[in-house]
Amino acid sequence: MQHKCASVVAGNPQADGTVLLSRNPANLDDVVAEVTLAGPDTFVRAAEAAKNAQPEWAKIPAPVRGQVIARLGRLVEANKAALARLITREIGKPLAESLGEVQEIVDTCDFFLGEGRRLYGQTVPSEMPDKQLFTFRVPVGVTAIITAANFPAAVPSWYLVPALLCGNTVVWKPAELSAAVGQALAELAWRAGVPRTVLNLVQADGKATFEGLDKALQDGLIDKVGFTGSTEVGRRISELCGRHLQSPCLELGGKNPLVVMADANLDLAVEGALFSGFGSAGQRCTSLGTVFVQREVHDEFLSRFTKAVEEAIVGDPSQGVLYGPLIDTRYAERFEEYLTLVQPHHTVHGSTGTGRITDANPRKGFIGNAEDGIFVHPTIVDGITKEDALYRNETFGPLVGVGTFDTFDEAVELANGHGYGLSAAIYTTNASNAFRFRERCRAGMVSVNNSTSGAEAHLPFGGNGLSGNGSRQSGVWVLDQFTRWQSMNWDYAGKLQKAQMDMVELPEADLAYRLEG
Ligand code: UN1
Repeated sequence: MQHKCASVVAGNPQADGTVLLSRNPANLDDVVAEVTLAGPDTFVRAAEAAKNAQPEWAKIPAPVRGQVIARLGRLVEANKAALARLITREIGKPLAESLGEVQEIVDTCDFFLGEGRRLYGQTVPSEMPDKQLFTFRVPVGVTAIITAANFPAAVPSWYLVPALLCGNTVVWKPAELSAAVGQALAELAWRAGVPRTVLNLVQADGKATFEGLDKALQDGLIDKVGFTGSTEVGRRISELCGRHLQSPCLELGGKNPLVVMADANLDLAVEGALFSGFGSAGQRCTSLGTVFVQREVHDEFLSRFTKAVEEAIVGDPSQGVLYGPLIDTRYAERFEEYLTLVQPHHTVHGSTGTGRITDANPRKGFIGNAEDGIFVHPTIVDGITKEDALYRNETFGPLVGVGTFDTFDEAVELANGHGYGLSAAIYTTNASNAFRFRERCRAGMVSVNNSTSGAEAHLPFGGNGLSGNGSRQSGVWVLDQFTRWQSMNWDYAGKLQKAQMDMVELPEADLAYRLEG
């Protein structure tokens, strides 16, 4: 089946624009969707529709909005297999991971349906009599959500679900490369009862989106931007939002380290490195960047890790493979550029070749027909030092660096020194190492004896440094992105009481008093 995707503004499909074909990266002859890409004006019109719809949506009591989210969760659950198959077909993620991705939407809905009955504010004592203080969470207004192709459904749900629950309306721009998944998720939300004016879908490329966003911000139509993607684009979005005194919710890149102490369970560390380095073909923001191994166990770790990667099955993502294709030819081209960063002092391991897997450059044990899609060899690069470009650059593909350290202090320095700060892991059997690492590591998310990816949907997700501006998604923490605090004071004294000036007298005290002895 070939999908037809177009922007949908207040329920009306938008027909004009250039057409892009979204292809199955495991089989480029399979056209998944014909996508009509909108220009900047469509983005602005979507923002207007969202702005008009916002007051009515916010008037619906939060517990009732929570029930809409509950229905969305049930509808996604009922469509789990079909949505997962579409994710696998459109972006090439192995089916088991796609099923996990859909489950993450269900988990997110299950968390936030209850939040509709909380959204707690506080009652706060006043410093004066006959006066009461309160705090309330109020929706920010219209949110523009711009998401990436690597998690085309779960990560959008981290924004859409809380934004809607909190009483905001949405303009959602999914990645062009995952337009059909975007359309499918929006359709499930509409069918679950989210009004079509409340959730507007814009299918556009990055350039048109940026121009539309710029204009919509100037026109005062957007109150909050949520963006998942590269650090470079995140910086531009942040600059744009800053001009309008807004701080976006950003989830950017990572160069996530995994530290292996000499006392670690090495098999466990190898398993974690394999999953986080090569799961989703290394195209997660939480993918493993570099493993730093304590010198005593470096050779043993490298040989076990190399064996695990050599034996892993790569290929057709509908079968039980470690990873399938890269999302798009552009990703493969960029990946090949990153391979040029391998230096003479490095050694390369993990496969029967590097770069594109083809008939002439085959991968042992490959499942399927490599020439039909965009498949690349897994690559381990040993000998990474702090001076290397591979130490600092996110490679967004199946490439994992390995470096060596002697002392714990060196490990911490290597884990922090690249400038990103999303996720970091340590494998150790010593509790002091674990807590010291947590304390000194700059990452927003730290794993102990677990890989750098696979965050649970109700813990704060986000990073520091080049990985983000400190905003956090998921759980109760994301509520601070999609609501603003409003305080209220209510004076029932029947006279003007002036804070800090009309002081209530304290009972007398004898502060010179000292105990004897
Ligand atoms: C991303 O790559 O943008 O923690 C998100 C993980 C997933 C989410 C990754 N649950 O790896």
